[in-house]
Amino acid sequence: MPSRMRLAADLDVEGKRVLVRSDLNVPVHDGAVGDDGRIRASVPLLRDLLDRGARPVVVAHLGRPKGEPDPATSLAPVGERLQELLGAPVRMAQDVVGESAAEAVRATEPDRVVLLENVRWAPGETSKDDAARGAFADRLAAFADLYVDDAFGAVHRKHASVYDVATRLPHAAGPLVAAEVAVLERLTSDPARPYAVVLGGSKVSDKLQVIEALLPKVDTLLVGGGMCFTFLAAQGHAVGSSLLEQDQVERCRAFLETGKVVLPVDVVAADRFAADAASEVVSAEAIPSDRMGLDIGPRSVELFARSLAGSQTVFWNGPMGVFEMAPFAEGTRGVAEAVAALTSDGALTVVGGGDSAAAVRALGIDESRFTHISTGGGASLEYLEGKALPGLTVLED
Ligand code: 3PG
Repeated sequence: MPSRMRLAADLDVEGKRVLVRSDLNVPVHDGAVGDDGRIRASVPLLRDLLDRGARPVVVAHLGRPKGEPDPATSLAPVGERLQELLGAPVRMAQDVVGESAAEAVRATEPDRVVLLENVRWAPGETSKDDAARGAFADRLAAFADLYVDDAFGAVHRKHASVYDVATRLPHAAGPLVAAEVAVLERLTSDPARPYAVVLGGSKVSDKLQVIEALLPKVDTLLVGGGMCFTFLAAQGHAVGSSLLEQDQVERCRAFLETGKVVLPVDVVAADRFAADAASEVVSAEAIPSDRMGLDIGPRSVELFARSLAGSQTVFWNGPMGVFEMAPFAEGTRGVAEAVAALTSDGALTVVGGGDSAAAVRALGIDESRFTHISTGGGASLEYLEGKALPGLTVLED
């Protein structure tokens, strides 16, 4: 990791209020937390701070509320889960920097954590206006003596709680940020070869920049998920009613010309987007006009596993199909198994965050079978694109 980044472990925190930016952005449905991977990943820093006599004040976002209180995006259910996982009281403030937050921060002791309400309820958090963001960051900074950023998933955002507050307080990187950056550095600086990347997810337009950045560096790029249909169309194949981004077909054709891209040879095609849809495995070269591909097929899983064999470095981002529906989960499971098998052969295997990390857990695959499962979807992709991430650069000075 960048040597100029101070670590939380090096800070003298005893008795101090420490503003901790965590990424607690997890799925919440009807007040119940779904995949809690990010909450679990935020626990070690908080445990360490409590053990060292600090008074952590956690700031985090949930979803994308528009700068005003919105009960549907309250962090309250997340706070409850955090309390269970941490085994220490988590006092939930009712607002971000208002009276409730100020009182919780004033009264806190080193035996508990204060969790502020969803920081995106405050318009200053995501404002494009430096002064507005700065004014809000001043109020957050007033709550603490020190700032630790452990929210790897948000380091690509130039937001008040990620960027501006670090310019106002002595700051350090938390262990999660440090671990994530260390792994991403291994992927970018002289990765062991062969180096394979597996990309999935629905839209190729979301991944254009990362494909452009990675293609010159990798030996093989395997493409599945909804985005594979635009590549298949670029090869001249009929894709039925599958997801297709017509305006990206030319770009995909250019990517194919590198000779490094491996595409599915069969797909699970359904008559509609539903778990109980009628479906069948068809050739990826001729998907019937009334069918949509919702997963890669078994021959594709074999092809992908063969293409990955012997790889020394693998980065996988994005599910191969609609894994949330059992009939369309096998492609993702198969690729996860193929990647995991390489870990035991000594390869560096990294699962990019977001949906692929959620898929690993939802499919019951042991997380320890990968070298690293990132908590950051967009953040890890932007890192691999070579972009400067505001939340990291601000920690380096
Ligand atoms: C994520 O879910 O990738 C992070 O929590 C960042 O969330 P955002 O994309 O809403 O900024």
